[in-house]
Amino acid sequence: MIRVAAVGDIHMGPDSQGTLRSSFETLPECADVLLLAGDLTRHGTPEEAAVVAREIKDLGVPVVAVLGNHDHHDERPEEVTAILRDAGAHVLEGQATIVTAGDARIGVAGTKGFGGGFVGRCAGEFGEPLMKEFVRYTRRCADALHAALKDLEQRGPDVRIALTHFSPVPDTLAGEPPEIYPFLGSYLLAEAIDTAGADLAVHGHAHAGTEHGMTTGGIRVRNVAQPVIGRAFHVYHLPGHPR
Ligand SMILES: [Fe+2]
Ligand SMILES: [Fe+2]
Repeated sequence: MIRVAAVGDIHMGPDSQGTLRSSFETLPECADVLLLAGDLTRHGTPEEAAVVAREIKDLGVPVVAVLGNHDHHDERPEEVTAILRDAGAHVLEGQATIVTAGDARIGVAGTKGFGGGFVGRCAGEFGEPLMKEFVRYTRRCADALHAALKDLEQRGPDVRIALTHFSPVPDTLAGEPPEIYPFLGSYLLAEAIDTAGADLAVHGHAHAGTEHGMTTGGIRVRNVAQPVIGRAFHVYHLPGHPR
């Protein structure tokens, strides 16, 4: 059994230093990996990223993260990424990584993702250049996620996990106003996950959403936004696939 701890939307600032550290220090007893589903900071400043870095450094389990929209607000995502990487985190944007825990090899493919909405109620690549670019940006994120999951398939880890900030499905948005669903996720992410295959999809972003959902292809989706799970992290158990 592979134990995957996950949380998103911890939205840390200078006054939150130390608030998660004691919970995170229990991770080696209960989890093989910690996934961070973006919105780790409030405004994406290097100072806030340094707070996160101190919370996650030397935890004794590998940490794999994607950034969220808040982590982009200061328009310095590269600096935020570098600070988290210095603390030992694998920060993914359209890439895959395999981390090991004992004999287990845990594959994670990650992208922030973006919005656009869900089938029947979604934005299309039509009209003004800005509108087309909006949808194309989401499509690039989804295509990169698909390629990263396929890359993992080649490398043969025991499990493959899709990690995003925006949601791939509407199920886990239940509780949010339907009017804002197009800003909370995109079906293109689910299409990428279903066609490439994964054992679990984890996302954040929807603070008022619901924890449990599923893609149309039957892949489990978990919204781990901290206000949704109401704790420092949740642990999901995945059966490993011996190959
Ligand atoms: Fe958030
Ligand atoms: Fe967000």
